[in-house]
Amino acid sequence: MNYKAMCESVCEIARSTGLFIKEERQSAKLDIETKGSNDFVTHIDKASEKRIVEGLKKLLPEAGFIAEEGTEDVRGDRFNWIIDPIDGTTNFIHGLSPYAISIALMEEDKIVVGVVYEVGLDECFYSWKGGEAYLNDQTIEVSKAATVADSLIATGFPYSNFTLMEGFIKSMDYFMKNSHGLRRLGSAATDLVYVACGRFDSFYEYDLKPWDVAAGAFIVEQAGGRVCDFTKGDNYIFGREIVASNVATHDELSEVVNKLMVY
Ligand code: IPD
Ligand code: CA
Ligand code: CA
Repeated sequence: MNYKAMCESVCEIARSTGLFIKEERQSAKLDIETKGSNDFVTHIDKASEKRIVEGLKKLLPEAGFIAEEGTEDVRGDRFNWIIDPIDGTTNFIHGLSPYAISIALMEEDKIVVGVVYEVGLDECFYSWKGGEAYLNDQTIEVSKAATVADSLIATGFPYSNFTLMEGFIKSMDYFMKNSHGLRRLGSAATDLVYVACGRFDSFYEYDLKPWDVAAGAFIVEQAGGRVCDFTKGDNYIFGREIVASNVATHDELSEVVNKLMVY
């Protein structure tokens, strides 16, 4: 496969779907459904996912799909797309940025193409196997912060699964006192690509799904960063826990997260 060409085609699909999302948001009344506690979906999430799936099917007919809203829920033998049509739906509903389209291509169990298109600021982050990481036309790399004390750290606040709440509060207490500060943007895919381009030095969150992290985590690694789960293993796409950062702070950060949040 020509991964670079595939990545460029996926960027086009993401950009055109982003335009569709913006236009629909202006013209239509939002039809909002509740999927679970504080977990929402709009008719635009569903329509966007259909458009993305239709576009991707033409690119690689044999691939399967793991998509948040369940469009084409079939697995491919070798290739699978992992898709979040709008990551940051709560922001989107409230008219806030960021919100992003996240598309990853998985070959066997490895990501080979990742695209995160942040619609609000019209920023496309992408990379492919064997390539560098990009924001629009520019290559990107993770930050050079040397310690957690020098880091701006992104996270996500629990909103429906409170099982690790106690440890999470302890981690916030620690990072508020021992870093440049914490941020909660409301889109995990955006948090990750902001680590990839050095706006954030690191990010951690629990209870994320494969479509929240698959593309963004790949782009962090391609931009020279490191990613792990809360036990410092590599089960961060399907394992619902992620720590992503530049290289220099990774061991220190993942040690703190591990100590405070694994119990
Ligand atoms: C959500 C966002 C948010 C994270 C949530 C996700 P959605 O995705 O990534 O930042 O904290 O856990 O579910 O529902 O807007 O696609
Ligand atoms: Ca999401
Ligand atoms: Ca979503």
